[in-house]
Amino acid sequence: MYLTREEERMMDGEYGEWIAKAIRLLVKLGELNNAEKLVEIRRAHLSGISYKTVGDAAIDLLKDMVAGGVKLKAFTTINPAGMDTLNWREMSIPPDFAKKQKELVRLYTELGAIPALTCAPYIFENKPVFEENVAFAESSAVVYVNSVIGARTNRHGSLDALSAAITGRVPLMGLLLKENRYGNVLIKVNNEKFNDSDFGLLGILIGNRLSPSDIPIFSFRKRPDKWRLRMLGAALAASGAIAMFHAINITPEAKTLKEATGGLDPEDRLFIDKKDVETVVDTYFSKIEIPDAVFIGCPHASIDEINEISALLRGKRIKRGIKFWIFTSRRILELVRKSSIYAVLERAGVKIFADTCMVVAPIEEIGIKKVWTNGSKAAWYIPKFAEKRIEVEVKSIKEIIDAITE
Ligand code: F3S
Repeated sequence: MYLTREEERMMDGEYGEWIAKAIRLLVKLGELNNAEKLVEIRRAHLSGISYKTVGDAAIDLLKDMVAGGVKLKAFTTINPAGMDTLNWREMSIPPDFAKKQKELVRLYTELGAIPALTCAPYIFENKPVFEENVAFAESSAVVYVNSVIGARTNRHGSLDALSAAITGRVPLMGLLLKENRYGNVLIKVNNEKFNDSDFGLLGILIGNRLSPSDIPIFSFRKRPDKWRLRMLGAALAASGAIAMFHAINITPEAKTLKEATGGLDPEDRLFIDKKDVETVVDTYFSKIEIPDAVFIGCPHASIDEINEISALLRGKRIKRGIKFWIFTSRRILELVRKSSIYAVLERAGVKIFADTCMVVAPIEEIGIKKVWTNGSKAAWYIPKFAEKRIEVEVKSIKEIIDAITE
């Protein structure tokens, strides 16, 4: 692989052992994928922040890096932690867990990461632009920035995203190359009767049918907004490890079908409507009469989405014994708190938590067994992360609110 003089110095250890290790990992990754060279990036986003998912080994590794004087070269934000860092007691997080989690976040910030603690940094904190090369590690954010923004990232794991953040480099390969960004499977969707949760169910359905290297091209009968596309992308990533999709006449690299495919005919065509996505609930998820908890905000809720919920909850109250938690970023929580949306939600009995989510927080330790959510990515992962101690059903926000309020 071609390396600049500067990159050779990094490889040779002139800037320290950790930079050398990081660039060697990226070069190896590039060689395995026939990359010709590395390219510079200015922004990265890291996963592997929750103590629940990374444990003491990550603390030890980060301590060594901090002691070694490592500073991140790229502007870098980090994913949700295992708890609301200010309000963790209200989530019933054990104090030992909270201590370890705070240490993990502190170590990342010592390296120079911005503790955004959100999986949706593209809303405020870390916003790539069209055709910008970046290194993002959160799978739902990877799909969003590739598909809806048109920035370019591969689906990074925790270690290669960290290496990219340290060196400010990534191998020029995969979805960084225009020729690898064309779609190959056309999916015509009659979404006229779709609700919010149906877009995630569509993602689960298609993710299970395609392979990770496929790039689906959606043709929607009715134009969905970007938040619905986001739920679709998160579920495609969860069930099928898909890193990008196009939506004709909506996403920036798909003004036409021809543009989305690069002029080729799609290799396959699928037709989907409401009854197809309804089968997903029976195939993959549980049926729950009454939930212990409702979790909204996978991916982290936007202000528009929180506003939609508050409009549906105006003048209503959630039935006793059911938790209704919304997860979002600290920045969005602060804005919502300053608005009238917050009072409506508070009166209804909703809690909003920042910095964390229903999958990476240790919810299986706090007595929750049955969950309703509108987010299919959360429904896909909660039982796996909780070792099947929690059942989950996907429902639309309206269905949930109609069933659990008085
Ligand atoms: Fe975000 Fe957690 Fe869902 S990190 S995408 S809210 S699983």
